[in-house]
Amino acid sequence: MSSLRVKSISSLHAEFSVPGDKSISHRAAIFGGLSNGVCEISNFLPSEDCLNTLKAMGSLGAHFEVLEELKGYGPIKLRIHGKSMQLSAPESPIDCGNSGTGMRLLAGLLAGQKFTSELFGDASLSSRPMGRITVPLVEMGAKLETLGEKPGCAPLIIHGAEVHPIDYDMPMASAQVKSAVLLAGLFADGTTSVTQPSVTRDHTERMMAAFKLTCKTVGNKISVIGGRMPQSCDIKVPGDVSSAAFWLVAAAAMPGSRLLLKDVGLNPTRTAILKVLSRMGAHLTEILHSSDGEPIGNIEIHGAALKGTTLLPEEIPNLIDEIPVIAVAAALASGETHIRGARELRVKETDRITTTVENLRKMGVDVEEFEDGMVIRGGNPLHAAEIESHGDHRIAMAFCIAGLFAKGETVVHGTDCINTSYPGFSQHLDAIRHEKTKAEDFTLPIVSK
Ligand code: S3P
Repeated sequence: MSSLRVKSISSLHAEFSVPGDKSISHRAAIFGGLSNGVCEISNFLPSEDCLNTLKAMGSLGAHFEVLEELKGYGPIKLRIHGKSMQLSAPESPIDCGNSGTGMRLLAGLLAGQKFTSELFGDASLSSRPMGRITVPLVEMGAKLETLGEKPGCAPLIIHGAEVHPIDYDMPMASAQVKSAVLLAGLFADGTTSVTQPSVTRDHTERMMAAFKLTCKTVGNKISVIGGRMPQSCDIKVPGDVSSAAFWLVAAAAMPGSRLLLKDVGLNPTRTAILKVLSRMGAHLTEILHSSDGEPIGNIEIHGAALKGTTLLPEEIPNLIDEIPVIAVAAALASGETHIRGARELRVKETDRITTTVENLRKMGVDVEEFEDGMVIRGGNPLHAAEIESHGDHRIAMAFCIAGLFAKGETVVHGTDCINTSYPGFSQHLDAIRHEKTKAEDFTLPIVSK
């Protein structure tokens, strides 16, 4: 098990780009593989999660060629050959690794196929709830079994079945569940709708539009017409704002710092963290340079003395993955930060309420845990500690950021998991710790094929 050692720094001045967006990379692989031709995907995220989805599409017959590779990780530019909606039966069970997005979206895709398939994952994924997708998919006519030791959990067996459209009132604000139902709906005859309790990330809807599928959003209701052919197209994946979040918090909480992150995804269903950091006192500018499909732009942030804030209920789904690092910002801010209504955190890669609270306390932070979140009383100096990631990439990275502010040496244990979402994180952390400032200092080695 690997660890990262982090010491404090006094300021941060840098300009660079973070790797491609994880949510969009999963979807690019899936829709590219379903489409009626060849799709070139650039800035694909070669993280373990997305590579598993790409391999899954390969095992369903949608082959890909690597055009450029991030050395030591996998493709960042590739060509995928779509199967015109005619997937073939996989020869063996499909490994989704650590990825809830991979498993849930693939389950939706596989629900309406003519063949039987099996999806499995690692220990963390095998303990996460799958009932949230099997319930609507079974309502659509899918034949699914959950074989996990824990009831309602993976492995999933998906038997070939004909699916029909439904009008689904989704009980939780989950883009994964919404996307699973919409993907199954592509194979149903008629209009499948999902009504979400509040706005969740809309990458599936935007990707469907890019592939010329008929997907409409009216208020909180999203509908797709099944039986249509996705038209192949090229996709440029923006930088992942959830990966950007780690450096944004580091710069925001360090007065005198300036950070420019280039070509980041600025989809409004993902950028609530920018509003939160502004409210906490950071000086932040977004410069949008393309709003075709997925909005992309630069984010410039200047550090300041932060103050606590309250996350609004409607913000929670739009910053759900950023909460561990927002909790770190809250620990560094004066006053109280209230994070409530975030029960969903308990069913992520770890129970992120428990793992965040436990690690903040190790660093001397005054934090109160609630069933649906936490209240942090920040502003006291952090002290270095031995941190456990519990195999959760966002916990590992959030506490590396905390280590940049703590007196002494913080050791974050279990950092291999970072590769599930941010290949190259430790190189970027090193560049920041060694006060590198230029984009070249952060450039990861790319190999053309
Ligand atoms: C994701 C949706 C979110 C998020 C996950 C990626 C997606 O999960 O936490 O990292 O790509 O759809 P939920 O939709 O279940 O909240």
